Amino acid sequence: MRRKPVERLVAEGGQGEGGTLRRSLSMWQLTMISIGATLGTGIFVVLGEAVPKAGPAVTLSFVVAGLTALFSALSYAELAGTIPVAGSSYSYAYATMGELVAWVCGLCLVLEYGVSVAAVAVGWGEYVNELLDGTIGVTLPGALSAPPGDGGFFNLPALIVLLLAMVFLLGGARESARANTIMVAVKIAALLLFCVIGLQGFRSGNYENFMPLGMAGVSAAGATLFFSYIGFDAASTAGEEAKNPQRDLPRAIMLSLVIVTGLYVLVAAVAIGARPWQEFGDSEAALASIMREVTGQGFWAVILAAGAVIAIASVVLTVLYGQTRVLFAMARDGLVPKVFARVDRRTGVPRANTVLVSLFCGVLAAAVPLGQLADATSIGTLFAFALVNVAVVVLRRNRPDMARGFKVPLSPLVPVLGFGFCVWMMFSLQAVTWVVFGIWMAVGLVFYFSYGYRRSRLATEPADAPADRPDAAAAGSENRNEEK
Ligand code: ALA
Repeated sequence: MRRKPVERLVAEGGQGEGGTLRRSLSMWQLTMISIGATLGTGIFVVLGEAVPKAGPAVTLSFVVAGLTALFSALSYAELAGTIPVAGSSYSYAYATMGELVAWVCGLCLVLEYGVSVAAVAVGWGEYVNELLDGTIGVTLPGALSAPPGDGGFFNLPALIVLLLAMVFLLGGARESARANTIMVAVKIAALLLFCVIGLQGFRSGNYENFMPLGMAGVSAAGATLFFSYIGFDAASTAGEEAKNPQRDLPRAIMLSLVIVTGLYVLVAAVAIGARPWQEFGDSEAALASIMREVTGQGFWAVILAAGAVIAIASVVLTVLYGQTRVLFAMARDGLVPKVFARVDRRTGVPRANTVLVSLFCGVLAAAVPLGQLADATSIGTLFAFALVNVAVVVLRRNRPDMARGFKVPLSPLVPVLGFGFCVWMMFSLQAVTWVVFGIWMAVGLVFYFSYGYRRSRLATEPADAPADRPDAAAAGSENRNEEK
């Protein structure tokens, strides 16, 4: 139940073992990090799986999933502006509900970031094959495109994209953010292109039976599509590298969610208008094949596949970034080995952390059939979001005095609604996903009680000890490490 005081969390901001992170990210780059982490496999691949569950009402499913994300985004915005540190919801839970809940939240974040990045890397490989096929008529042999158990030997593209992301991240947060911004521009352009071309094949008759599978279908598709919103919170892991976190993090989170939701609803509406929902059945690359059908030319499908390859690569880059920063915060608190908090003095990057996480996720993606573990990503994310909604209410009650860069309107009503939506979505997922989630939590708790519980800095240093640098209590708004 021990809690980490907010002032101590904030005062430690940026400090790693042997070096400090650099404050180099602007509001614009933070927004791009969140869009980068969000817009990818969900719209390019998962949309095709969700349409048969809801019919044309899949557009509504996007709104339902988006509302779940919106309520939680408001809570994220308030906490990111109040406690601007790298650990995101893990740190918010540490300050409000104590170490055990924070640890559980950290486990959820590993599902949201670490496991999902492996799953996304696998999706990247599928689009690379599609692109190779469309351009030079060659695809990778099956043995090099899937792990053992899924009909192959090793998923080479998945490993390659993770290693590429690692190289960017080792170059520095600012450099990675620049590359990400370019990739985000490309993916938004690819989706807008899809809308322009798709509209030419739009038939309003496709909307006649709008909700063929009822509200149950809408919520089942919403739960599946929730995956496409995962990542809008990625900016909150950049709290220690943002130039002005208290002002910029809330703005970046909200802005990215608005842009992404608008694009999703638009793309889904055009896709259903261009192809009857019953025909979505077994298409993995639904958007690319719609482009082919509408234009009658393979060229546009290739362009869209190229856009998807870049889109999904930027998800890998930013989600991997988020995972390294969450582990950085956990290591600084003593809950995972210190090596994850070591920072390279020259680049201001947690080097060993970045290499270890990239290799781990690379091997996970390339050699392990992820199956149900990948499905547990959404439940883990929803659980973390639910906790963030609770954290807002707890912090308002315990620390009403704190300066907040952004405040959730109508609290506690909105956080309670946010919590409710998360729980509703969680119960719309399959029972087997819950079982996998339960096993994951049990394994994680064994690790906590055998390692983190005793090594936590709150156990080895008194809870009320002054922060390492008391003068840094306002670290959130100071820019000591800012790059000029
Ligand atoms: N939201 C991310 C995606 O759709 C995980 O790829």
